[in-house]
Amino acid sequence: MDLPFEPYRIKVVERIQRVSRAERARRLEAAGYNVFKIPSDAIYVDLLTDSGTSAMSDQQWAAMMTGDEAYAFSRSFADFERSIRDIFSYRHVIPTHQGRAAESLLFAAAVAPGQVVPNNIHFDTTRANVEHRGGIALDCVCDEGLDPENEGPFKGDMSLDKLAEAFEKYGKERIPLVMLTITNNSGGGQPVSMANARAVSEFCRDMGVPLIFDACRFAENAWFIQQREEGFADTTVKEISREMFSLGDGCTMSAKKDALVNIGGFLCLNDDDLALEVTNDLILHEGFPTYGGMAGRDLAAVAQGLKEVMDEEYLAYRIGQVRRLGERLESLGVPCLKPIGGHAVYINASRVLPHIPQSEFPAQVFTAAIYLEGGVRGVEIGSLMFEHADPDTGEMVYPAMELVRLAIPRRVYTHTQLDYVADVCARVAELGPRLSGLEITWQPPSLRHFTAKLQPVGGGDLLAPESAQ
Ligand code: F0G
Repeated sequence: MDLPFEPYRIKVVERIQRVSRAERARRLEAAGYNVFKIPSDAIYVDLLTDSGTSAMSDQQWAAMMTGDEAYAFSRSFADFERSIRDIFSYRHVIPTHQGRAAESLLFAAAVAPGQVVPNNIHFDTTRANVEHRGGIALDCVCDEGLDPENEGPFKGDMSLDKLAEAFEKYGKERIPLVMLTITNNSGGGQPVSMANARAVSEFCRDMGVPLIFDACRFAENAWFIQQREEGFADTTVKEISREMFSLGDGCTMSAKKDALVNIGGFLCLNDDDLALEVTNDLILHEGFPTYGGMAGRDLAAVAQGLKEVMDEEYLAYRIGQVRRLGERLESLGVPCLKPIGGHAVYINASRVLPHIPQSEFPAQVFTAAIYLEGGVRGVEIGSLMFEHADPDTGEMVYPAMELVRLAIPRRVYTHTQLDYVADVCARVAELGPRLSGLEITWQPPSLRHFTAKLQPVGGGDLLAPESAQ
């Protein structure tokens, strides 16, 4: 495939290093086989997340230097609000320090115990925030979205049937809002089509229930619509984004993704009463309504980042780079979720390690092994993150897929570094049968994947010696 064209050059660099294999083995064991707990200076290529890891542009750094730190109604807030309103058509713009703060504020005001929030697939903090309010987070993604081999162009789409079933089962009184995550991170960074968003919007309007977008990666979603959906080839990404948001009643946004900043977020709402309640809570927990937990310079960087993310040359490069990594992995025999998503490649760990059952965390094993093999950090999106007890039966439910996500920070790594990542993953895939399952030795009550400690099953080594085969 052609190399994706880079519409920028490097002005500042950051030294990174590869520590020795023996050192990596020590670090991995000390971290309880949980790569969240490995210090970043012992990581060579860090693909843990695309969140808050973007390289900011010279224009963003310049905007930070001229950020206005006034407590109330700063110039930077005005820029922030203007930039958001240029794309998002909502009445109230409420700054928050990151996406989950927006979720927490929204669900505190809108969700009561026992209520149900349908989404295509809830991201883990979204699910946790709904459940923290005593609500039920319901995933309604279309069936293709759960099939890692399906090549469908819009596997983030919500199933209208599943959504209608939810309304039938729980009744609309128990459904305070519907969410749509663009792109669908937990389902492989897959986009939602405009046709599906229109249909969901229409359904919600008929039901009288608000539709709220989880907008983190909205620009990447819009780029996919432009490339793949009939009728949008000549529509700009900005126009597509505007149309998408016009279908909803608000959004939560982690600016750490498609606003190209290291910290920041916002909540947008049309409902005046809800916005008032949220704003009161915001003052208690985040800050005054014109900064919401961010410095003026952070607001300024978001304002500039939202302009830059609309640059279609940037988006073609960005999504091209991710796709190139996926295609290289596939060509080296490492099965990936198809099609390749917008912000990340998702390796199908069940196919790489078929001998490891879901109860022994195959995706976590692969994640630990690529660190050991090459100092590469990815993240497990499988049983460690999502295994949970069924709210009705109490039985353990395993996720449909065991994935390892390699999330690509925006504007950060070179093609060479990502080729190295593909080679490391291919070597680990070859080692497959020699890798042992993992078992949990300690876990917290919720969001366990961040801090749980594990060990190879039975306390042996992660990688059996060659002679053992
Ligand atoms: N919604 C989605 C779809 C996300 O991917 C994230 C974060 C959030 C909400 C929460 O935003 O981190 O600013 O509080 N995703 C990151 C990730 C952490 O690695 O995928 P936040």
